[in-house]
Order: sequence, then structure tokens, then C-alpha cells
Amino acid sequence: MAEHSGTQFFILGGSGDLAQRKLFPALFDLYTQQLLPSSFQVVGLARTVRSDAEYQALIKTSILNQSKRIDVASLDAFCAHARYVSGSFEELESYQKLHATVATFETQSGSSANKIFYLAVPPVHYAHIFNLLHESGIAQTNEKDTWARILVEKPFGHDKPSAIALNEALNGLFTEDQIFRIDHYLAKEAIQNLLSFRFGNTLVHNAWNSEHIAAVHIRMFESINVSSRGAFYDKVGALRDVGQNHLLQMIALIAMDEPLHFTADAIRKNRASVLKKLVPFTKDTIHTNVVRAQYEGYTDVDGVTPNSTTETYFAFKTFIDTPTWEGVPFFVQAGKSLSHDEVSIQIDFKPIQHGPFAGEGNAIVLTVSPVQSMNITLNVKKPGHSFSIEQNTLSFAWEDENRGVVNAYEKVILDCINGERTLFTSTDEVLASWEFIHSLTTHWDTLPLQTYEEGSAGPQNALWKQ
Ligand code: BG6
Repeated sequence: MAEHSGTQFFILGGSGDLAQRKLFPALFDLYTQQLLPSSFQVVGLARTVRSDAEYQALIKTSILNQSKRIDVASLDAFCAHARYVSGSFEELESYQKLHATVATFETQSGSSANKIFYLAVPPVHYAHIFNLLHESGIAQTNEKDTWARILVEKPFGHDKPSAIALNEALNGLFTEDQIFRIDHYLAKEAIQNLLSFRFGNTLVHNAWNSEHIAAVHIRMFESINVSSRGAFYDKVGALRDVGQNHLLQMIALIAMDEPLHFTADAIRKNRASVLKKLVPFTKDTIHTNVVRAQYEGYTDVDGVTPNSTTETYFAFKTFIDTPTWEGVPFFVQAGKSLSHDEVSIQIDFKPIQHGPFAGEGNAIVLTVSPVQSMNITLNVKKPGHSFSIEQNTLSFAWEDENRGVVNAYEKVILDCINGERTLFTSTDEVLASWEFIHSLTTHWDTLPLQTYEEGSAGPQNALWKQ
């Protein structure tokens, strides 16, 4: 980075849900921790005509909506760094207007600009946006020591062919090291902890394989429904919204080999190797190992087609075809409008088989949401004169205010600024995930679409009961 370079953070979809709920608060937190470059600007692009001052007011309100305990003076100071451009992200003219902000920023700040383009828009628009970014020249850097990076949200593509096409479109216009494919789950503290927990503790290191592990359960239960994003969700569905990315990445981190070096390349390569070894479904196994369902009333949601068969819930059981994981079932399930919020990974260990200590196996539960924490159940002596065994739990929570837990979007933005790629997915990972998902989606319509009541535990015959 040039000694005197500043950073412009362009948000395409600058007033949307993602910008308001996640990006503004994350940028503000980084600002208050003085982690943003000293010279920076946030530039929002959206259709509505509004002034810079109105955009700054919108940012302020969004941040205050997320948290009331905020120092208003620093919030005002942060908002003063924001600029607004009105226009459609589908038109070249908008990018020309964005381009014009660069020269002004460089003159005012006396620094040359690094640029980040955050695509906070539906993925279906990505290819067109890449072309416009290129054609307008805004993503070109005018010195060899400034950079331009593109942050894209998941899902990257809709299936394997479209992901390949998107990559090809990108590669013709930008270099791979300019692309940061976000999976914000990788940036969560509890998820990052999987590696330190597995590889940093002799207690578990040697037991982390099919000899000792009986089953793995990955759950993503959400109580919210999709009412605020029906049009988007209906085209995507639960499997592509969270399955192809967040949940498969959890499997990758649970099962990957220890990297030789703790580098982005080595870690991404090992995550990809797991994804390539997921056992795909066949037209037979899909009927025994997969459930798809929709909550009652989903088709009444605004933006959802009346006879939609989009799933709001799925569950599947799969395996990893390596000697280390042979025969260990991975139960994966996710759904909206369920009875409670829970994102968790549960590792069930095999019990001691014989003798006086035979009984229940240990379990490790890593909870990502609602509170990032870990519980380990152990068999211990029950207090008293007789010798019997009971299960007790060791617990640990990251989410104590004083422990400096970093919000996932802060981490994503900061790592992109620093060019640190470990927590972003590689082309290889994206394609391997789609390959596996393809084995589900090709037989998807042959699976009955079950229904479940809003606020319930999901469809009746869910696989986790197996
Ligand atoms: C997003 C999905 O990627 O992750 C949403 O699009 C989901 O549907 C969200 O609700 C969950 O993320 P978090 O960080 O709130 O657990």
C-alpha cells in the first residue's frame, strides 16, 4: 500500500438491508477502534435520489437502530466520511458518477485511493456489475502501489455451471487476488476456533477421526421467517442460501487435515479437499437421506410466487470419503421460521464399549448462535458413597462483552483491507461445494415437499432422529 493511500469503500446496494444491518455498524465499529485507514470514505450507490447529508442521516439511524449505547460525537464524525451517488447499479452512467468521486477524494485527502467494491446486491447481477466496473475504468488502479478489490456475497453463482461462467467473466476482467468471496460464517469467532480447538489440544487432536467419533450434527435453526426478503429468498431457497456455503464450510473446518503451514493457501486448499470428498447423493440415497420442506403460509409472503416449491428447510445426511472419516455420518439441517434460534456443531464421540465405564459417549457442542460458546460433556463420578457415573458439562463462552469478540462483518472488511484471504472462499472451494449441491438439486423435484407450522420444530420425520 502506498504510504499516502486512502481507501474508498463503495457499497453497491448502498441503502439496502445488508448495508443498513451489517455494513454500516461494522464500518463504524472499525472506525471507533481506529482500524480503518486514516483517510477513508464510504460511497453508497442506490436508486433513490438523496443528498450526502440524507445518506449520512440514514447511516446514523441504521447504526443507532442496532445499538443505543453509542457515542453520538464519534458517530457524527464517522458519518461525515460518507458520500452518496444515486443511480442504478445496472447502468454504466452510475459507475461513471462513482468514478468522479475518486478524483475528488484524492484531491481532498491528498492521497491516492485504494478501492473496495462491496456488491450488496442479489448475486444474479454480479456478472453485469463486473463488466460495468471494468468498462467504467473505476476498478483500475493508477499506481502500482494502490489496489482495487471486489467483495462479493454468497451464493457465488446458482449452480456449478453458473459459478464457472461467473469465474470466467471475472477472470477476463480482474485478477483472482482482487476477488474476495465472502462467507461471513468463516469469520465468526466460534467457527475460526474450530482449528485452534482441533489442532491445539492434544486431548482432542488424536481422537478426531472415525475411530472415536460416532456422528457429527450441524444445525442452523432460525426463528425469523423470510417476510422481509421474499423476492430474493424465493429464487434461492434454504439450500443455496445457507447450505452451499455456511454449512458446507463448517463441514470443511470440522474435517480438514491440519495444514502444513498456517497460511491462506494451505488452509483454503485443505478446506477444498474435504468438499471434494463429500459423498454425493444418488437418485436412491436422496430419498432416504434428504428432507426438504416449506413452512405453512410461505407462499403468501410478498414477492414469493403463489405456487412456489422453494424450500425453507432442508436436512441431509452425508459422509466424507476419506479413511479418516469413513462411516461417520454428518447430519446437516437448516430452516427458517422454526421454534428457536440455534446454530451449532455437535460432535458425538463413541462410548466406552465394555466394563464398568461403558455408557454414554462424550459430546462436544460448539454453539455459534445465539451465544458463541462451547460445552463438553464428560462422564464423571456421581458424588456419594456408591460408585456410579453421571454426565457433567464443561462450558465456555466467548461472548462476554469484555473479551473483545469481533463481529464477522468487521473481520471480513478488515481482512479485505489488509489483503488477508484465509477467511474468503477460493474458486476451488466454491466449485467443489456446487458439485456436491448439484447431486441434491438434480433430484430435488423428485423429493416430496413437506410442510411445517411456523414456530415449530420443523417437519415431522426429520433425519436428526435417525
Ligand atoms: C445469511 C443468510 O448468509 O446468513 C440468511 O442469507 C441468514 O438467510 C444469515 O439468516 C444468518 O447469519 P447470522 O450471522 O445472522 O447467523
